[in-house]
Amino acid sequence: MRQSLVIANWKLNGNLTLVDAMVDSLAQESQVYMARIVICPPAPYLSALQQKVKAQTGLKLYVGAQNCSEQDSGAFTGEIAPSMLREVGCDYVIIGHSERRSLYAESDTLIAQKVALAQKAGLTPVLCVGESLQQREQGQTINVVTEQIKAVLGSVDLNKLVIAYEPVWAIGTGKTATPEQAQEVHQAIRDFLKAFAAEGEEVPLLYGGSVKADNAEVLFAQQDIDGGLIGGASLDTEQFRAICSAVKG
Ligand code: PGA
Repeated sequence: MRQSLVIANWKLNGNLTLVDAMVDSLAQESQVYMARIVICPPAPYLSALQQKVKAQTGLKLYVGAQNCSEQDSGAFTGEIAPSMLREVGCDYVIIGHSERRSLYAESDTLIAQKVALAQKAGLTPVLCVGESLQQREQGQTINVVTEQIKAVLGSVDLNKLVIAYEPVWAIGTGKTATPEQAQEVHQAIRDFLKAFAAEGEEVPLLYGGSVKADNAEVLFAQQDIDGGLIGGASLDTEQFRAICSAVKG
């Protein structure tokens, strides 16, 4: 059985008030969620989130970071090592988000180094892949995402990996991939991973890109979609709770 996940990516948003409100909201009603829920706030709030989660009984929430360094220590001003994230209670780290690839020029090589070091530190990387609108229009989608995955495969343990398919044209735009478009790519990723190694079957594949409370259920119902990576809608406690509840199996 693959692990289903709903991961909140707050990006450069949120504050301590939202940390409290989000955990309180998810803990309400002793609701049972089928998915594992992970919150990825900006790094300064990781410890507060971890403390808040620990103080809640009955709700198992996981803490994740949005990025990490490919270095473990040393003279790298401003960087945060995966081992440090682990020490403050992170279980997950998002790596290779399209905003990091495009705005901070992160290459496949750098991303592969981050993924390997994150796993070494005991974190589960959430590797983000996805095509631009132009690449989709040129029929390059499957090729682009499999190349992005191939770049990390040499140094990765598939048993400790999550992949998020996030079409760049769907991120923060309100344009969601149709369930059929998303499933087609997820299936291609699944086939690609299985051809690489038997454990490929078990890698959770998440969809991301304008997931909202009103489209989550139909997306998550697709055979190869194991949950979602949620940006904008993860800043709204009610909406995020509805998305978490949309995972049925
Ligand atoms: P969005 O962002 O849900 O706001 O489109 C998703 C993401 O970038 O992870």
